[in-house]
Amino acid sequence: MITNTELEYKGNLYPNHIVHFEQDNEKLSFTTENGVILQVTILRGSVIRFRYATDYNFEPDFSYAIDPDATLGYSTLEVTDTATEYLIKTARVIVLIDKKTLRVQISDLEGNIINEDELGFHWEENYEFGGNTVKMSKITQTGESFYGMGDKATHSNLKGKRVHNWVTDQYAYGKDQDPLYKAIPFFIGLSNNKAYGIFFDNSFKTHFDFAHERRNTTSFWADGGEMNYYFFYGPDMPKVVSAYSNLTGTPELPPLWALGFHQSKWSYYPESNVKEIAKQFRDLKIPCDAIYLDIDYMDGFRCFTWDKNHFPDPKRMIAELEEDGFKTVVMIDPGIKIDKNYWVYNEALENDYFCKRGDGPLMHGKVWPGECNFPDFTNPEVREWWADLYKEFMSDLGVHAVWNDMNEPAVMEVPTKTAPLDTRHNYDGHPCTHRKAHNVYGMQMVRATYDGVKKHVFPKRPFVITRAAYSGTQRYSSTWTGDNVATWEHLWIANVQMQRMSMSGYSFVGSDIGGFAEQPDGELFARWIQLGIFHPFCRVHSSGDHGSQEPWSFDVEITDIVRKFIELRYQLLPYLYTMFWKYSKEQKPMLQPLVLFDQEDTQTHFRTDEFIFGEKILVAPIQEPNAQGRRMYIPRGKWYDFWTDERIEGGKEKWVPAALDKIPVYIKEGAIIPKYPVQQYVGEIQIEELILDIYYKEGVENSEVYEDAENGYDYKKGRYSLRNFKLTGKSKSLSIQQFKDGDFVTSYETFKLNLHGLPFNIERIQVDNEDVVLKDMRPNGDNTMYIDKNFTTLHIIGK
Ligand code: NOJ
Repeated sequence: MITNTELEYKGNLYPNHIVHFEQDNEKLSFTTENGVILQVTILRGSVIRFRYATDYNFEPDFSYAIDPDATLGYSTLEVTDTATEYLIKTARVIVLIDKKTLRVQISDLEGNIINEDELGFHWEENYEFGGNTVKMSKITQTGESFYGMGDKATHSNLKGKRVHNWVTDQYAYGKDQDPLYKAIPFFIGLSNNKAYGIFFDNSFKTHFDFAHERRNTTSFWADGGEMNYYFFYGPDMPKVVSAYSNLTGTPELPPLWALGFHQSKWSYYPESNVKEIAKQFRDLKIPCDAIYLDIDYMDGFRCFTWDKNHFPDPKRMIAELEEDGFKTVVMIDPGIKIDKNYWVYNEALENDYFCKRGDGPLMHGKVWPGECNFPDFTNPEVREWWADLYKEFMSDLGVHAVWNDMNEPAVMEVPTKTAPLDTRHNYDGHPCTHRKAHNVYGMQMVRATYDGVKKHVFPKRPFVITRAAYSGTQRYSSTWTGDNVATWEHLWIANVQMQRMSMSGYSFVGSDIGGFAEQPDGELFARWIQLGIFHPFCRVHSSGDHGSQEPWSFDVEITDIVRKFIELRYQLLPYLYTMFWKYSKEQKPMLQPLVLFDQEDTQTHFRTDEFIFGEKILVAPIQEPNAQGRRMYIPRGKWYDFWTDERIEGGKEKWVPAALDKIPVYIKEGAIIPKYPVQQYVGEIQIEELILDIYYKEGVENSEVYEDAENGYDYKKGRYSLRNFKLTGKSKSLSIQQFKDGDFVTSYETFKLNLHGLPFNIERIQVDNEDVVLKDMRPNGDNTMYIDKNFTTLHIIGK
């Protein structure tokens, strides 16, 4: 074993022996002889925070990531002092702190080691900037796999990789390129069927090494700040993800239209072009809910202005688009043009809202409008001002939603692509340089945007999109994965990125469907749409440099395929909305990589392509040209082929046919999938019946359907409708019980049931224990029937 003293010569400093211990309720402090303090805080039985100070001195405790509403509270806490260690026991884990070295070992209550320090905490003094480079090294467990870390464009299992977090404008990034637009310093470790998570809440540039440099070591470090991490114990991976998501928050429900299909391009202008695109959607009967205005709607790229030549009357245009079922989403960037005749610039200058360099001058940099200054969004006063800049757009002009771009912040023509590191920030009253504020700058911008949009679209719900993000940004905004490329490899990347984001607590994500840079052919576009309809945020966007990327930009066959899949998206809206509700309320990720779905099956640990959309729909995109299908892994359990209803047993690989008009999709047996009829946009028609696709299973399966007014806040006052369905299948019967919660009255009176895979012919049907005349259920020979939406039990008896 390497000792701490032996390693000091490498420039690293280590804690030595503990000389003092003290407990203040859930906070335990261990002080070493050389001035290191380890503070262990028990947040929940399985959520523990570890925080280290050097020179006896903690910085003020402040984080942008932590949700003020996170759940706290534990039942058991026992501390035992032995000759060699302190032993902390909660209801879920045992933490040992070594008295000689301050190293930590965490095990479950049966004594299985879950996570343990190798060298543990150590640090190096930073002579240039002050403070420390803070480091942590852990022993990699046997067979350990690693997941999470936000938008990394690499294999889903991070074992053997080293990654960095520094939000970066990475135009046309490649596979394995790192870092990208997000900084989400959270990973999940899995070994021996036990999962844990670590969230290193440090906004400086952070680095993670997953057994890359040394086979048996996992380490993470930051260029400054504190070693401050949260440990989450599973042992089930979904518990780890939901505990992290609980700590850093989830979003409120978006308006339902935000889950529809969205069309974007850089840029649709002038107004006639926007109208033409909208009209094509309606003429060709391709559903669409939103159209995006990229930077060219502005007057010389000045935020909060309009180019009146191209958009003479935005209010009228937005209203007309709305008449036709389109919401208008506009872009806002952080760079404010240096221009004495520009009111936003003048206001910010007068009020001292712009970021300054270390020695005092204003920080400036080039973006679309030329030289700009940048508001310091880490200043609460600036955020308030920024939020109110949206008033005219939202309440007067009727803009529906906003996307924040370039908020890393991106700066052109400089090698660092961003603000100089000596740029100063308020950091909510904890003044610091850009080294610390860089990773949260975009987050604070979109937070201010969210506050403003929310306030000024009230009583409607806000919808906001951001490119840059730090952990916790998911509370405010949806996101997209930036400037990807129209290649098959990028379709693969998009698939991995969405799953990774989702297991990193950020589920409301999508890619630029079809690719931002370069031009897809019809086949790639169709395949990408087929994947994109299964991503929570579903938007086509492209740079517009190489032609158009609308559903009709290819040939008629492609247009028909694209329409068919966008229609499927609209049919699945109640399923997707229910997923979102579960994400928002129960922190359940909306997309599950197979390892999250079934960690016990080691086959899933290295799979990248297949994922579960919500809890019941298995999807595997086609990722190469000219494919007639693909091999895919079907997870354990029984599944129905969505297209043929063929039932198969999982736990194996299988060739699945998928000509250009299909994507491999399977439904978990026992699932009840709610569907709406196709609409051209959310709210186009009044829903007259809820379709329930019921997939027979021998055994029990629960499904839910959540509905409400699809916008507004009435749901918070109990006006929602939650249906819990319990399906029980036996060899000669199928029964469904419905439990209802909430006061919302849905517009439909009936369910249309589609029964899939019934292994018997129907003899009798009972509703709420009374025999019904079969023909009243309008069965039409193909196992379709109608039933009143208020039934409590449905009993289908076979011959
Ligand atoms: C970069 C963004 O990533 C892209 O989506 C946008 O179209 C351009 N900026 C222009 O605003």
